[in-house]
Amino acid sequence: MSNNSLNKLAKLSWPDDFIDKVICGNCLEVMGLIPDKQIDFIFADSPYGRNKADWDFYYPIGYEKEILRLAKNGVVITCGEKNIGTAITQLGDEYKAPIYAWNKNGMTRGILGYQNVIIALCAGKIKRGQNFIQFSISDLSRKNHPAPKPIEYMRAIILRFSDPMDLILDPFLGSGTTAVACKELGRHFIGIEINPDYCKIAEHRLAQTACQSELAITFHELDHKVEEK
Ligand SMILES: C[S@@+](CC[C@H](N)C(=O)[O-])C[C@H]1O[C@@H](n2cnc3c(N)ncnc32)[C@H](O)[C@@H]1O
Repeated sequence: MSNNSLNKLAKLSWPDDFIDKVICGNCLEVMGLIPDKQIDFIFADSPYGRNKADWDFYYPIGYEKEILRLAKNGVVITCGEKNIGTAITQLGDEYKAPIYAWNKNGMTRGILGYQNVIIALCAGKIKRGQNFIQFSISDLSRKNHPAPKPIEYMRAIILRFSDPMDLILDPFLGSGTTAVACKELGRHFIGIEINPDYCKIAEHRLAQTACQSELAITFHELDHKVEEK
């Protein structure tokens, strides 16, 4: 990270410069500026360390401790199958359960793109629903990112782990899927992404996303819609 970028980060003031913002920077540095237990729920889709994209050459061991420091109620991480053991060790006693998700229409392709099964690890409490998710993908476009999470998956995770108006952090925002789902579902977000091009993509997607009424989509209504597809 250049001195310029570090200087910009140092000027950020909590919470006004963080909430409902896409912050371009190294998540370990940005998260270090947030006081303990300020975030209701954290979703982290880290690099997997499989060398399949230019950012995918490492698994950022240790970020798990930082998200546990910040989270009030829960964290969910998708770390790639290869890192599940490491991530469970890092979560330690806070580790609760795996979250299994299955893409019912099975139309996925690609090295790092949508997969038909997504395994995540959770710490903290599932507020509603079970640790099994079924979803159908409606939009197969790649969002100019090699590994966007399906929006349907992100909605299901957010509805299980948070309430309207909660503050949700994604330290590896990529193309911005978590922030888009938060905006749709009436949650506040903080998105951190190291690559400025991906930050622009996330900003663009957010600008095109309408904020729905907090009460417009309930958990059961949304899960029912997913079932129907
Ligand atoms: C698996 S992708 C996330 C994809 C995202 N869930 C989406 O739906 O688009 C991981 C992202 O982490 C970013 N990244 C890697 N190291 C980072 C770091 N230290 N701080 C912040 N972002 C980082 C990469 O640029 C990449 O976009």
